[in-house]
Amino acid sequence: MTNPSLEGNYAPVTEEISRYDLPVDGAIPMQLNGRYLRTGPNPIGIPDRYNHHWSAGHGMVHGVELADGKAVWYKNRWVMSPEISRLRESEPVPAPTSPTAFDGSGNTNVFEHAGRIYAVNELSLPYELNPSLDTVKREDFGGPLPAGMIAHPKWDKVSGEMHTIAYHFEPPYLRYHVVDADGVLVRTQEIDVAGPVMVHDFVITHTHVVFFDLPVVFNMEAAMGGHQLTYVWDELYTPRVGFKSRHDDSPVTWCEVDACYVFHPLNAFDDGHHIVIDFVRHPSMFRECVVGPREGTPQLYRWVINTRTGRVVEDCLDERGQEFPRADDRLTGAEHRFGYAISANGENDDGYGGRHVLKHDLTKGTTREHDFGPGHHASEMVFIPENAKAGEDEGWLMGFVFDRQSNTSSLVILDASGSRPTAVAVIALPRRVPYGFHGNWIPDSALRSRR
Ligand SMILES: [Fe+2]
Repeated sequence: MTNPSLEGNYAPVTEEISRYDLPVDGAIPMQLNGRYLRTGPNPIGIPDRYNHHWSAGHGMVHGVELADGKAVWYKNRWVMSPEISRLRESEPVPAPTSPTAFDGSGNTNVFEHAGRIYAVNELSLPYELNPSLDTVKREDFGGPLPAGMIAHPKWDKVSGEMHTIAYHFEPPYLRYHVVDADGVLVRTQEIDVAGPVMVHDFVITHTHVVFFDLPVVFNMEAAMGGHQLTYVWDELYTPRVGFKSRHDDSPVTWCEVDACYVFHPLNAFDDGHHIVIDFVRHPSMFRECVVGPREGTPQLYRWVINTRTGRVVEDCLDERGQEFPRADDRLTGAEHRFGYAISANGENDDGYGGRHVLKHDLTKGTTREHDFGPGHHASEMVFIPENAKAGEDEGWLMGFVFDRQSNTSSLVILDASGSRPTAVAVIALPRRVPYGFHGNWIPDSALRSRR
């Protein structure tokens, strides 16, 4: 009996390594000075081999530092949660005095805020990492974050604020938090979702914040039965999307939508009377415990919410199977034209991303592909603008690609700006990088100098 969470490129690696001066095929753009970081599950010592779910694995961050056209290093480091500290017989990192959130694993996203690097998974507090990927401490931004935060915060590029939410299986089921540009929690509002739903992500526009109240609901039976996946699909739950002003504590206006699940929106914007949300729509989620989202084809959709009537119009923008959508982060909350995603159409039999990067031009209504070739599995591609003044789409896409045949991984840099993305550099990594979730490019200029 095998567990697919532990097979193929889902299988964890067993050690931390550091390797320097990596071989490069092509030319790394000289403007790229910083590090690409991505986190994912990488369990040590699995307590129940057959019940283990991929998403529950301990967090490990993989990173590649680039400088002056060179690939300076590759490193991988476990996020030092209390459990990892115990297993590795090291001192636990400092934590806020009385956190009520779960310890967490840092296995879902890694990002920068206020000059610091954080790894986080939902229901828990972020772990601060130093630029060499060592865990520094657990962070609550001055608190309180009673249920931690999700792994998909959003940034207001004008104010520098970080907006985030936290869901929980006990009331209040959802909270909305704002952390200011200096890394201090300045606002919290309880949000009246109808039940203990899983809220993996959300969106902001320049004026509104939007929450998803969708039918993946905490299941006490699953929790009592010791299942690692404790949120399941509930046919009877009324699916809704809700919006409220970002600038006050006004209540949420809820609007019913067709049943579906949303892990990842691409972006959202509004024009005063309508809120437009582009997202990857799953027909359902967690009807059964499986590795990877395999309950129908995840497709790119658009919701247009009429903020006066509460009516939501739903349209499919691209029927191809896809996930891990990303846009130019400078446009968070503003109208976007382009989006980038990874194919997820069943072409690979292990449930992870496929061999294509999809570039959507939502103005033209076209999608063009970059093909990594047979046996390749792409992961999330982050967009990096060429410079601060570059227009949308003028930059690169960056992410890990796994080659099943050679059992190796690479960091790939694509030029995003052509009609289809094209490779400009492929950095050979010294070891296989297991499948993971999310990451970001963190330029040197974003990091606060540390004493
Ligand atoms: Fe996610």
